Formats: sequence, C-alpha cells, structure tokens
Amino acid sequence: MTGSSIADDPTTCAAWNTLAALAAETAGTTIRQLLDADPARPNALTYEAAGIHLDLSRQRLDGAVLDALLSLAEERGVLRHRDAMLAGEHINVTEDRAVLHTALRRPAGEPLVVDGVDVDTEVHDVLARMGSFAEAVRKGDWRGATGGRITAVVNIGIGGSDLGPAMAHIALEAFSDRALSFHFVSNVDPTDLAETLRRVDPATTLFIIASKTFTTLETMTNANAARSWLVSALGEDAVERHFVAVSTNAEKVSEFGIDTANMFGFWDWVGGRYSMDSAIGLSTMIAVGADGFARMLAGFHAMDAHFATAGPRENLPLLMGLVAVWNRTFLGIETTAVLPYSQYLARFPAYLQQLTMESNGKSVRMDGTRVDYETGAIFWGEPGTNGQHSFYQLLHQGTSTVACDVVVVARTENPLGHQQDMLVANALAQAAVLSRGRTAEEVAADGTPAALVPHKLMPGNRPVSLITIERLDPFALGALIALYEHSVFVQGAIWGIDSFDQWGVELGKKVAMGILGVLTSDAEPDIDPATDASVALYKRLRR
Ligand code: F6P
Repeated sequence: MTGSSIADDPTTCAAWNTLAALAAETAGTTIRQLLDADPARPNALTYEAAGIHLDLSRQRLDGAVLDALLSLAEERGVLRHRDAMLAGEHINVTEDRAVLHTALRRPAGEPLVVDGVDVDTEVHDVLARMGSFAEAVRKGDWRGATGGRITAVVNIGIGGSDLGPAMAHIALEAFSDRALSFHFVSNVDPTDLAETLRRVDPATTLFIIASKTFTTLETMTNANAARSWLVSALGEDAVERHFVAVSTNAEKVSEFGIDTANMFGFWDWVGGRYSMDSAIGLSTMIAVGADGFARMLAGFHAMDAHFATAGPRENLPLLMGLVAVWNRTFLGIETTAVLPYSQYLARFPAYLQQLTMESNGKSVRMDGTRVDYETGAIFWGEPGTNGQHSFYQLLHQGTSTVACDVVVVARTENPLGHQQDMLVANALAQAAVLSRGRTAEEVAADGTPAALVPHKLMPGNRPVSLITIERLDPFALGALIALYEHSVFVQGAIWGIDSFDQWGVELGKKVAMGILGVLTSDAEPDIDPATDASVALYKRLRR
C-alpha cells in the first residue's frame, strides 16, 4: 500500500471545522432566502462543461460554504489525488491497482505507460477489434451457425457488467440499429434467462458473456444454461458463432469453450462499475455502431479533460462532489434522489446506485481506521414525471430531507405535440417547489381553510441540483456519466476512503455458497439459528 495524505483523517483539516461551524450557523437560512436575496445567484452558481449545465443555485449553501468546501478540497489534496489517478498510480490501495477508466476514452496516439505497459495501444487495439466485430454483426457479415443473420443480442452479466450496458441500451435507443433486439440477463433467478430465451431464436441470437473475472456465480450459471439451450438446438459446433466473451480472464474464457479470438479484453485497472466504456460496452457498440461508441467515448473524454484542467471554481465534478459532501456529511442528508426527466434515462438511477454506493458505501479510511462522519449517500430514483405520482409526496412533505438531482434534456428525439414542454415544465416546477416550498401565509392567501393550511404547507428547503443537457446523444451520455464518476471520486477523496474496492459484497457470496450446499443436499443446516429455521421452511415449501 502507498502512504498518502489522502488516507488521513479529514476532520483534522481546518476547513472541516469551518464547515461544521457554518452548517450550524446557516441552519436557519433557507434556499428560498438565499435565492431571493441574490438575483445573480442562478447565474453565479450555474456551470457548464462538455455540454452539461450544472445549476447549484438551489443548494443550501452560500459563498462562505463554497469557499470552505474548496479549501477543504485543497487541504485534502483532491486535485493531486486526481492527477495520481490520471497518471495510473495505484490509488486503489486495498487491491493495489491503478484506477484508469479515463484511459479507456483517451484519443489514440497519446501514449500512457502504466506499470511498464503502453495502455494507449492496448485500449485502441481492443476498440478496433470491437469495432470490426460490431460492424460485422450490424451488416450481417457475422452470421449464426446456420447462416442466419443475427437479430438478437443477449448480454449476460451482472453489476458493472450489466447495469452500464443495460442503461445505455435504453438511453441510446434513438441512435440504435432497430433491426436488432437487445436483452440483458443478470439475475440468477432462472426466470430472467428463461423469459429472455422465450423471446429469441437460437439460430439468430448472439450471446455476450460479460464478466471481468469470468467467475461470477450468476453470470457463469446463466452462461452455462444459455450454452446448453443453444447446443440442444444447434449442436456443439454452433457455440463459436453464437458466443463471445468480454473479460480480463482469458483462461476461464477458454475453459468455457469460447475461442479467445472471440474474446474482447480489458484490464484490472478498470473497476466493474467504471467499465461501460470498455469492452463491457460491446452490446452498446453493436447497437449504436463504432462511430456512435466513439462519440460516447468523446463525451466521456471531454468531461475527463475538463476535470483534469479546469480551475476549482469552474470544475463541475469537483463542485458536484463537494456539494454532495456538504449535504451528506455536514447537513446530515442521508439520501439523494436521481430524477431524470427523460424516459431514455429510465435505468440511470439504477446505474448510479452501483456507481455511487459500491464506490462510497464505506466506513473505514484507506489506512483501515474507522470514520466518525457520514460517507456515501443512498442513491435511488425513478424518471419524472412517473415518480411525481408515487414517492414525491415524501420528498415534499416527509420528515426526511432528500437531496434531488433533477436531470432535464432540452431536445426530445420524439416530438409529439407539447409533450416535451409539459415534461420540462414539470421538472422545473418540481425543482422550484422542492427548493422554495410554500409558506403558511401563501397557502392561506389562496383561500385555504385554516384547518387545511398545515396539510398544504410545503416546507421546501430540499437541495436540488439541476442538470440540463441539450440532447441525449452518445456524446452527452458519456459526459453525464463521467461527471458522476468524478464527483464520486471527489467525495471519496474528501472522506479518505478507497472508492474503488468493494469488500462489502464478498461475505454474502461466500455464505450463499455454504447455504447452497445445504439446499442441494440432505445435509442439516448449521449456520445460525435464524438461517437454519429459514432453510428448513424453504425446504418444506419448495416441495
Ligand atoms: O459483486 C460485485 C461485483 O464484483 C461488481 O463490482 C462487479 O461489477 C460485478 O460483481 C460483476 O463482476 P464480474 O464482471 O467479474 O462478473
């Protein structure tokens, strides 16, 4: 492990104490007061980079808080840590790995040597192979074993090997080849695969087995079942035309029976949740073509370049990450709702759940010492306007304060009457109501009977970040995701945690294997009293 000041306890920073004091001092100041006091605030707190407009004017912060947050970033050495990441230093200390998803989207020809290897050449070699393959599938040059053109692509993977491609598939549907259907199987629940297989024809289906390790239980179980299904329809020899792999583990890919000529590799310095722009994005590339994928990478890179070079006061990911720290650690806001006003971003909240919570859901610092402050917020959400008719009641009048990221896309791909304006009117209305609320006087002034005034009062003061993009195309999607990736990085750097490991997911996998042994044999359970009772109940009921 490398010694690094970033692992130190951040509470010893002067700016940390300033922020704690400011949180107490400004507790009585509302977002409405901040907005009304300064007409220049929306302009002053709106930032733009790579086509993304980030409006922080509805956050619960003033100039003093912003200054202190930036001082904290400086004291913590966040930008030095950023440079270390970009240079390929092993900032994932608990796994002793570089963190280089940014290398996946650098333009060709800019050498980057990491651990003695020219990363740039390797990345662009794989991209070129992916491009040839994706275009062959799209043009019908890559055929199934019986000569049929591929019409369905089934990605089998889970976590980072599923959520990014599944999210991008929906997000970029307007730019996708409509002659192909895309399916994403992740759950070990046999229903996931079974229902998918009912929808596709073995002769025209391509399976992408996407797994960084090629050992993940769910993925390998589903991959083997899909393989058996294909073999029983078309015979063993058909496998090579219908299965390709995306992995870092060539040995396991071969063992599975996929020729490594049909394997697209990536590297241990790409974390699963940061991998949708690696070969894990093969389904995305087949959908939008090599050019579309290149535009997405360009969007990622534009935000990377901004993060790498913009001054702290203009740096969107830095500011967004600092605001997240302010809300979570200093204001005690436990959750962030992601509210995209775009049906194409239907799976964006699910994608962000892994990105944010697997990265920053940690309670020890890099050096193993325990934190005594709050870290990663809970992320969740649904697209608007649907969410308005389900959980927004709690957002507006519940006892918990939820921070909200409202995402607006200005240009629709599907103009239909005034529906796009209706959509955006709702997004802006919610941002206004969540942040400003409605006072008792305003409610009463409407002629509301006194008994109903408390029920109709809207406390407001819910922090809102408004993220606006012109059009949800591949470039914008890349830039949007990179914005969140780097915001997550900034938060982890302030908290001193390793945002790139995920030890917390391991134990559950191990215990499940032990329980599986009991479920698939006559062995008596001897795990713990509650689990043993649940095992017995399940065994009784499944008969
Ligand atoms: O269980 C968590 C995890 O390791 C994620 O971090 C990862 O994205 C997912 O499992 C899938 O892993 P793999 O790509 O190796 O199958």
